[in-house]
Amino acid sequence: MKDAAAASQPETVYLAEYTPFGWQIEDVHLTFRLSPGATRVFARIQFAPNPDAPDQDFFLDGEELTLIRAAIDGTEITPEITAKGLRCAVPEGRFQWEAEVEIAPDANTALEGLYLSNGMFCTQCEAQGFRKITFYPDRPDVMATFTVRIESDLPVLLSNGNPKASGDGWAEWHDPWPKPAYLFALVAGDLVAHPDSFTTASGKDVALNIYVRPGDEDKCAFGMEALKKSMRWDEEVYGREYDLDVFNIVAVDDFNMGAMENKGLNIFNSSCVLASPETATDGNFERIEAIVAHEYFHNWTGNRITCRDWFQLCLKEGLTVFRDRQFTADMRSAPVKRIEDAMMIRARQFPEDQGPLSHPVRPESFQEINNFYTATVYEKGAEVISMLHLLVGEEGYRKACDLYFDRHDGDAATIEDWLKVFEDATGRDLTQFKRWYSQSGTPRVTVSEHWDSGDGPERDAPVTGAASGDGIAVSEEGHGRYTLTFTQETRPTPGQDSKAPQVIPIAVGLLNPNGDEVLPTTVLEMTEAKQSFVFAGLAAKPTPSILRGFSAPVVLDRDVSREERAFLLAHDTDPFNRWDASRALARDSLVAMITEGAGPDEAWLDGLERVLRDDRLDAAYRALMMGGPTQSELAQVLYERGVTPDPDAIWDATETLRQVMAERWVDLLPRLAAEAKVDAPYAPDAAQCGKRALSGAVLALQSRLDGGAAAQKQYDAATNMTEQMQALTALVRAGKAGDALSAFEAQWRHERLVMDKWFGLQVAAAPPADAVATVQRLTAHADFDWKNPNRFRAVMGSLTMNHAGFHRADGAGYDVLADWLIKLDDLNPQTTARMCSAFQTLSRYDAGRQEKMRAALGRIMAKDGLSRDTSEMVSRILS
Ligand code: TRP
Ligand code: ZN
Repeated sequence: MKDAAAASQPETVYLAEYTPFGWQIEDVHLTFRLSPGATRVFARIQFAPNPDAPDQDFFLDGEELTLIRAAIDGTEITPEITAKGLRCAVPEGRFQWEAEVEIAPDANTALEGLYLSNGMFCTQCEAQGFRKITFYPDRPDVMATFTVRIESDLPVLLSNGNPKASGDGWAEWHDPWPKPAYLFALVAGDLVAHPDSFTTASGKDVALNIYVRPGDEDKCAFGMEALKKSMRWDEEVYGREYDLDVFNIVAVDDFNMGAMENKGLNIFNSSCVLASPETATDGNFERIEAIVAHEYFHNWTGNRITCRDWFQLCLKEGLTVFRDRQFTADMRSAPVKRIEDAMMIRARQFPEDQGPLSHPVRPESFQEINNFYTATVYEKGAEVISMLHLLVGEEGYRKACDLYFDRHDGDAATIEDWLKVFEDATGRDLTQFKRWYSQSGTPRVTVSEHWDSGDGPERDAPVTGAASGDGIAVSEEGHGRYTLTFTQETRPTPGQDSKAPQVIPIAVGLLNPNGDEVLPTTVLEMTEAKQSFVFAGLAAKPTPSILRGFSAPVVLDRDVSREERAFLLAHDTDPFNRWDASRALARDSLVAMITEGAGPDEAWLDGLERVLRDDRLDAAYRALMMGGPTQSELAQVLYERGVTPDPDAIWDATETLRQVMAERWVDLLPRLAAEAKVDAPYAPDAAQCGKRALSGAVLALQSRLDGGAAAQKQYDAATNMTEQMQALTALVRAGKAGDALSAFEAQWRHERLVMDKWFGLQVAAAPPADAVATVQRLTAHADFDWKNPNRFRAVMGSLTMNHAGFHRADGAGYDVLADWLIKLDDLNPQTTARMCSAFQTLSRYDAGRQEKMRAALGRIMAKDGLSRDTSEMVSRILS
């Protein structure tokens, strides 16, 4: 039933063309007679005219459905059916719609709509999957209550809301909260429950369950604890209580994304909820805690208040990411979390925002909405809220959120609604701030400084934009005036040639020459293209610490001497900027190694060593300090400095640097390893995770000197997956992993999630010259189940992370990825399209590589029947 014409001439949808649907739905009744090859779906829906909508034809979305019967008010009709849906005449007032359709879950490889995963029926409806289940106005602003009856011999039958009744071979569910179709969910399978319960602040008991396949029961406990913590946290911090009698989570092996917030029935990629100390790493545990929280928090930010249309996606996603970050900061270390988030934004969101896929946090058009579940919508969307939080303060933020929940509960809302509650609650005008939602691209902020000691006649006066009169008073007894002048500039992005100034909260602190802080963190509000801020009352010229806590998602461009960065590395009280000073020194040092053949920067290594020796700093923080910039980040920096990046030279420089660190710190490393020793039974808490992160970083360096001996020892003694993986990674990097890889495979061959690690690690840690060959070997492995997104990503996603391996000069990396994407597109367009973004940094590289990337993309584009998803991504990258 594929519509070839529609696929080759994709339609573009525009925010400006929003029109409400012509009818409201009072009530939806669905009956599913489940069968793998031929499931029958019976729908009975009450429609009533929408008084706020313009006149329109009655059209219901529907794709890949076989209509068996349709009736209006009991009279059978013959509607006009297209590849996109159904049209028919309807009575003037309210009416009852009935339809019976047939679908084939076992033929559904796209994992959207109703599909099968290991014999279990499950659904994924966001964004537009419900239209593959029945004919319906599949748009988020049509909200209705659902009653669902499932008929099947499978033992566990689940849907949204509360259980209503059940019997032999059937179950009924009722969801009292009106919801859009994208939040619909159904699960049927041979599953076992990990049960628990939660009592809400107002005393209501909620039954909690995590449903898994038999054999996975021992991997649920951590996810359940995370769920209960999330429920409590949302009550305490946002005043939000849960609103149904049950909350169910189901783990599914075949899933395109991380997890889905269906009302009362969250569905998770099993990799994002199942964990035991033996099978999951500390990183997995932390991620699971955050995702369980994220999906739970959607119950208010997404479900009770949903989006008017898909352009408003950041309304739920940016806000919910912001909330899950706050949660993680509260549960673990706030500074470590902030650094991790900033690293992620720089590594993933900045390249997106500075390349051909750049789009505003609230896009204005799309062909395929699934292509806009991006780092920009999620992560920059969260940064925008973080800036709002900083500008209005915690109290103003909470007042505005309370107003939001109060005013918009039950609504399908917009970004305008969200900003209005902040204006109404705080009295602030957010007109200019709103540009963060409409303007794409990463603003670049440049800084210059001026010092006037006040002892002589003012010589070169500071350039003033809107410098505040008397300046910001600093608590020193001096009479010096220090001026910081900022300029902001955002380069043109696709569809946006010129940019207007944005509101940029710049958190700064000042340190005096002996390292004491003379101005604690102060938020400067930059609103002009160029603007100065004066600090008065200083005794000596200060050293500024700018963009503390990564207070805005901008690139800070400032010519800072190595001495000044080293000073900040030694003295900054802001943990983020202290870390960033080291990162900047590492970056500059690597750039000098690559472009000038210089040796590593000694002053930086000394400064870093002092940090590592400081046992008052927590282990997780010191582990972060030991990590350097990524190769991709270095490629971007070189490109921005006018040097065409050579991936092999970047690889060589990072290797040299790691080797130098290992040799230089032969004595320090064992000391750190001793400090990082965990003597208690395994727990994935912040303290233990931090220690293991530090000992893992130590092991990685030590393995460069001892030929992998320490790693082999750790591998043999490992009692948890974190230590086992650290050891295996070190062995692969040392080229000594042959035996350990076989042992690992023999030990874990029946654990899919663990085998994903085994596949991924070999590609990610392969020497660049072997990466493609490793992919070829692993894709021929009997367990390379390429139809499973986790397994596919483990291999192909890891290739794209192996910078020099993927960007091999002969184009073999591009070709092998393109070959597999062409193959996957027939089955799973969503995952294929997402992985095309590996090519988004194309313009950084030399003409030869660019040509090879274009050729690979051209081959994808030329594929017969290419999906709308992939075609949109490839054409955006090529344009
Ligand atoms: N709403 C989901 C989340 O954040 C994202 C998601 C899950 C999704 N599955 C999807 C989006 C499939 C698009 C398609 O948390
Ligand atoms: Zn989300």
